[in-house]
Amino acid sequence: MAVLDIVKYGDPILRKVCNQVSDLSNLDQLIYDMFDTMYEAEGIGLAANQVGQDMNLFIIDIAHTEESVEPCVYINGKIISSKGESPFEEGCLSIPEVTFEIIRPEFIHFKYQSIDGEWHEKEIGGLLARAIQHEIDHLTGKMIVDRVNDVARLPFKKQLKTLAKESKQRLNNLA
Ligand code: NI
Repeated sequence: MAVLDIVKYGDPILRKVCNQVSDLSNLDQLIYDMFDTMYEAEGIGLAANQVGQDMNLFIIDIAHTEESVEPCVYINGKIISSKGESPFEEGCLSIPEVTFEIIRPEFIHFKYQSIDGEWHEKEIGGLLARAIQHEIDHLTGKMIVDRVNDVARLPFKKQLKTLAKESKQRLNNLA
């Protein structure tokens, strides 16, 4: 197991619509590493493209909250429908030290595959629904900065610019 580098704001892989996963047989190492990475960074969710993998896969662990939900891997997830509306302060491991109040649907009807390949369809609410929507955003190339207006973004303008610059430098060093 290993802690992976978390891709930061400005890296183009965070703007991709990620590929569906067709072969679920070789994901164990990636998933272990993603959990290690998420726990090390003290996050509650992590999408595959945040560790540089172009695949529709994310993990969530909110077991430490009041909601008793097991840590889980979600593959090829799709939000079928949603309802309600609630505001919540969200952060993102790819945009350190930046939080925004984001309004999202409160309940979702969500379809996904578990690691054994089984399909599941569930009505989900609360923090889990919130986290799933955040991760599904990642896998469709969206981030929390896209969910707020210019005025909300204003206090973080400099931080975002710096992050984008660092991502660019990192990519140039790899090239
Ligand atoms: Ni995020």
